[in-house]
Formats: sequence, structure tokens, C-alpha cells
Amino acid sequence: MSFRTIQSEGPLRLVVAGAGGMGGAWARNIVGSPDAELVGIADLYPEAAAKLAAATGIGGLATGTDAIELAQRTSADAIVNATIPEAHHPVTIAALSAGLPVLGEKPVAATVAEGLALAAAAEHTGQLFMVSQNRRYHPALHQAKQRLAGLGAVGIVSVDFFQSPHFGGFRDEMASPLLLDMAIHQFDMARYLLDADPVSVSCEEYNPAWSWYAGDAAANAVFAMDGGARFTFNGSWCSPGHETSWNGSWRISAERGTVLWDGENDPSAAPDEPFEPGEDHGRDIGGSLRQFIAALLDGSEPMGRVHANVMSLAMVEAATQSAAQGRRVAIDDVLDRSYAAALANERDPEVLAVLKSWPSVREALSSKRSDSE
Ligand SMILES: NC(=O)c1ccc[n+]([C@@H]2O[C@H](COP(=O)([O-])OP(=O)(O)OC[C@H]3O[C@@H](n4cnc5c(N)ncnc54)[C@H](O)[C@@H]3O)[C@@H](O)[C@H]2O)c1
Repeated sequence: MSFRTIQSEGPLRLVVAGAGGMGGAWARNIVGSPDAELVGIADLYPEAAAKLAAATGIGGLATGTDAIELAQRTSADAIVNATIPEAHHPVTIAALSAGLPVLGEKPVAATVAEGLALAAAAEHTGQLFMVSQNRRYHPALHQAKQRLAGLGAVGIVSVDFFQSPHFGGFRDEMASPLLLDMAIHQFDMARYLLDADPVSVSCEEYNPAWSWYAGDAAANAVFAMDGGARFTFNGSWCSPGHETSWNGSWRISAERGTVLWDGENDPSAAPDEPFEPGEDHGRDIGGSLRQFIAALLDGSEPMGRVHANVMSLAMVEAATQSAAQGRRVAIDDVLDRSYAAALANERDPEVLAVLKSWPSVREALSSKRSDSE
């Protein structure tokens, strides 16, 4: 499925929506990129937009409270949506409908149902909507994948994630902070490493006795992936001492060997066979920004296009349902219920027609996905 490309001689003009922590990181990356120009910052709170605009050091940088109005006022080429998850759907829908491609922060939306509506809206408008899963963009993760290529079938992927941040604010109060706010990164990385989508999950979440979070800050999840591999996530957000990398600490077991990755340094493989280094995808949000711009200019398929990304959020929803219900949850059940909700909630007749045209959710997502790197 193709999307509209942009003819441009110079850097692409971008507006950042959401002037919070991640909006600041995006603004800095755009300013530092030779391929992009920051032309505006939008936030519901004008003072937040003004503060970030001042921090960029760009004199007279345009600001506003409505990202789409600001993009039109500044003749922007695209929007980076770094708003809160609840605003991902409305802001991205409005941008796509106004003819603006979107690079969005994870998660794709607040729910899988909204993610499906966004996939249909991207199809209807022909605009690119890519979700930035920044932890996919790490040279050592790519190297781990390249090393696996020579080791035969991959059967077991396990990640330990142990950190002890004191965020303050909403994460300390929300239900399932680890699963909802963090685990999507490792779930998405596992999909990338395996080139496989999830089938089912059994998950337990709990709150260690000393936890400073109101919701469950620890979880164990076992996913069955298509092709038969298992992916195990073992994590805690309240475990001081010997913390793992924020990327997690990985053991990947294949038919003829094992790859270990500490989440930061080059992975090691046993046996240590020669491997193809593969393509350089860049690092962190700078990598996804580069891929988004390249896609818009030459039509190349980026990782994390909305269709390819929704399944990572489906893993999160399935895991939280499994933990709440104390049983294994099939991903297809999550997709079916989300599809029904997307149909029931959709108010745009043309987006609704796209949703109705899908032979099945899995087929719609997979026939349009291409995250094989
Ligand atoms: N990739 C990562 O490593 C990473 C890290 C942190 C956060 N995130 C993601 O980035 C996003 C933003 O997180 P954050 O920590 O910066 O949140 P934040 O609360 O610090 O900032 C969000 C900002 O968005 C603004 N906003 C809300 N609705 C808006 C709208 N309709 N239009 C314009 N502005 C709007 C808010 O006023 C706020 O200033 C979330 O989706 C979060 O999951 C990603």
C-alpha cells in the first residue's frame, strides 16, 4: 500500500504537537537534523508551547494551541504527534484529514480500537502515519537480529527489565504502569527480533510489597508468537540495584546457538559466527525521524507504519486482560473486540467504509505491513 510522497528540495518543515518531555526531545532532534526544519510548536497550554519554543533558541518560532491550524499557518509538510496517548487519535485524524502525514509517539493510540481507526484513516487519506518505537532504532539490536540469522530457527526470546525510577506524577498513580507505559517497547522489540506477530499471552502482574506505585509495577508475561516461538517478559519498575538497561537484558535461544544482549553494548553470540552487519537504521528517535523523512521523500517503507505497529499495542491490551482475568488471552479476541468497537465508534463514513472493506483485521494489518528490515 503506497502513501503520498513529498517533492522537496530542502529540509521538510515539521510542527511538533505536545510540548511535554517527549515534545522537547523531538524538537531537539528536528533542530539537529539536516533533513528537517522545526517550524512550529503546538500545545493545549500556550505557555508550554512558548517555553519549549524559547528553549529551541529559534527566534520567532511559531506556536499555537491547535497543531493542524499551526501547520497550515506555517506551511508545514508534516506533524510530529508527541501529545498524551488520549490525544493521539484526535490529533492524528485531524492531521491526516488535512493532508498532513504524521510521525506519532508510541503508543499508536490509547486503545487498539482507535489504532485500527487510524490505520483505516491512513488508507482513506493516502497519508503516511508512522509510529515511532524509538527502542527499535539501536545498532546493537539490529546486530542481535543479524547474528540470529545464522543460528537457525529462533524458539525462545526472553527479556529481563528491572528499573527503579521515581517519576512522580501520573505513572505513580495509574493502574498497570509497567505494562501500559513501558512494556510496549520490549513487546515491539520482540516482534522485530522474531519477525513474528503474537498469538496469545498469559500474564500476571503484581505490586512488590515495597513498591512506591499505586498500580502493579511488576509483571511476568509469556507470549506465544506465530511460528511457535515463545517470548517471555519479566519486569519490574521498582527494583533498585543491579538495574538492567532501559532496553532490557535479552537472551535469545535458537536452534544452533544463543545471542545475549545487555541492552546497550554489542550482543554476543555462541557460536560466534561471522554475520552481515546489515543496514544502519540510526539510533533512537533520530533514527525514526530519518526513516520518516526518507519515506516521505522516496516512498520507501518505514518501520512502524500504523498497520505494522498496531499489534504491539494489542500485546499490551492482551497482557493486561490476561492479568485481570487470570487466564490466557488470544490476540484474535482482542482484535475482534477492538474491530467491533472501531466500527461502532467511527463517525466518518469513508473511514467506516475502509474498516468494513477489511477481509479480517489480521489480514488488513499484515497485508499492508512491511517491517521486515
Ligand atoms: N519513546 C519514549 O521513550 C517515550 C518516553 C516518554 C513518553 N513517551 C510518549 O510520548 C508521548 C508524550 O509523553 P510525555 O511524557 O511527553 O507527556 P507530557 O505529559 O510531558 O506532555 C504531553 C503534552 O501534550 C500536550 N497535549 C495534550 N493534548 C494535546 C493536544 N490535543 N494538542 C496539543 N498538545 C496536547 C499536553 O498539554 C502536554 O504538554 C506519550 O505518548 C508517551 O507515551 C515516549
